[in-house]
Amino acid sequence: MKALAVKNDAMTKGATFGTLTGLAAFALFAAAFGFAPASTFAESGAGPNPHEQPIPPTQEWSFAGPFGRFDQAQLQRGFQVYREVCASCHSLKLIAFRNLADPGGPGFSEKQVKALAATYKIKDGPNDAGEMFERPGRPSDYFPWNFANEQAARAALGAVPPDLSLIAKARTYERGFPQFLIDPFIQYQEHGPDYIYALINGYTHEDDPNWNEYMPGHKIAMPKPLADGVVDYADGSPKTVPQYAKDVTAFLMWAAEPKLEERKRLGVSVLGFLAVYALLLFAAKQKIWSRVKASAIHE
Ligand code: HEC
Repeated sequence: MKALAVKNDAMTKGATFGTLTGLAAFALFAAAFGFAPASTFAESGAGPNPHEQPIPPTQEWSFAGPFGRFDQAQLQRGFQVYREVCASCHSLKLIAFRNLADPGGPGFSEKQVKALAATYKIKDGPNDAGEMFERPGRPSDYFPWNFANEQAARAALGAVPPDLSLIAKARTYERGFPQFLIDPFIQYQEHGPDYIYALINGYTHEDDPNWNEYMPGHKIAMPKPLADGVVDYADGSPKTVPQYAKDVTAFLMWAAEPKLEERKRLGVSVLGFLAVYALLLFAAKQKIWSRVKASAIHE
């Protein structure tokens, strides 16, 4: 009887072990093929936490992956959204007007940039009389902020709107299991853009304008910034919130990483070079050692 009990115990252990191996195999399989949703583990534990924001869903971006490139027309539309909507609260202080004509960016001409800069008033000075004065902007000027200082912004809006120059790179988070195993292979670097897109579309409680699904803690001082039709696109793209959000997010990604295309192009050519170099080294090694092998046989 005792022996049987022991045997039973061993069998249970065996069964448990089998199940565990099965689970592990399934987890690896799921990790490899991206089956399980990214939030499986992030949301597990002591039930859903109402204050914890979900992981932003993965969007498709033209600039994702090793061969990613910005879509120039999209950057131009995104800039229009920034200029007509976001700029009334947010600064973009690390971007100069001339950057809009830089290669790998929205691709405005120098003439367009000059005309655009001239529509802004820039504070300059002091002049010979010791006074500050305003003059029309020049391409070398940086985007001015609508508010005189942070205090003025806080007094008007209840919180300081962060500068948007680097926001697409500044917002990052853990994507949980199994995404963190897959992300290095697919070169996932779009945490910021996915978050900004989700945030703009995350005002899901109609009775509370400051409730946002994706803002940490769910409370945001920014009221829903976009509505269908507020920006008039000249190229016939849909005038909808998701489209505006996509475009302005792409523009903010460019602002945060203006050399993204150059970086990716260099990465691909370096890997190409290393591949060819590895083949050459292998061929050279075969040739050099073939003599040693041959003489070893003759001895
Ligand atoms: C009416 C003013 C206003 C407008 C217009 C506005 N924002 Fe904001 N935004 C704010 C304020 C205020 C905050 C700070 C929110 C907080 O800390 O609770 C903010 C915060 C943000 C954040 C940071 C959220 C975080 O994770 O901390 C992002 C990103 C953002 N805004 C993007 C945009 C974009 C893109 C637009 C244009 C489509 C825009 N905002 C238009 C006022 C505005």
